[in-house]
Amino acid sequence: ELSPIDKAKFVAAKRAVEFVEDGMRLGLGTGSTAAWMVRCVGELVREEGYRITGVPTSSRTADLARQCGITVVGLDEAKWLDLTIDGADEFDGQLNLIKGGGGALLQEKIVATASDQMIVIADAAKEVSQLGAFPLPIEVVPFGWQTTKALIEETLVSLDVLGRAATLRMNGDAPYVTDEGNYIIDLHLGRIGNARQMALVMNQIPGVVENGLFIDICDIVVIGHGDGKVETRD
Ligand code: A5P
Repeated sequence: ELSPIDKAKFVAAKRAVEFVEDGMRLGLGTGSTAAWMVRCVGELVREEGYRITGVPTSSRTADLARQCGITVVGLDEAKWLDLTIDGADEFDGQLNLIKGGGGALLQEKIVATASDQMIVIADAAKEVSQLGAFPLPIEVVPFGWQTTKALIEETLVSLDVLGRAATLRMNGDAPYVTDEGNYIIDLHLGRIGNARQMALVMNQIPGVVENGLFIDICDIVVIGHGDGKVETRD
């Protein structure tokens, strides 16, 4: 009864959860694909008796994890994680990612970086030869955000990108606010020639908290297809 896209997300999540072992400290990603993973981990806890400590990457995921019967703690309580499983908006051949379409990039990057291993789960449509067709989210502090946006736009001029449009993410008539109380500026770049450089340069700008490029963080991508087939890249 699942639509092909939901089936693709579900089978990827299901396969990735095979990497979960009893006793693990687990980073729980955010988004519609990660939600399938949280439900599958909940099944392991309730039906197989797995003792799992979950560190969620958003308030949404924390709510879902608790509903699924997973013990939820903060990152500082867990200290270090065995594995994080999360979705992505795009991934390339080097397993570099764009994340943050769901607005949770900051916690997602902190949690993934604090993990021995990160597995990304995605439907096949998210694979790209070059990152950047998906708008790159930049999390900025609300103070002086228009000045920060202008600085970001100036910085883009010096980089090898096609598009330079920067838009404040909205939630109806008001700015979208992240779990940390920040704003998000989405960069419509088309393609990012040098993602590593882009990630470094963006985080040099005062007012920028974090960017949605995940470089050298992901270890494995599990790709789901609408017909139920699954592929693994590492
Ligand atoms: C959340 O901030 C994002 O990084 C998500 O991981 C990403 O947007 C993927 O979401 P879906 O699984 O819903 O496509």
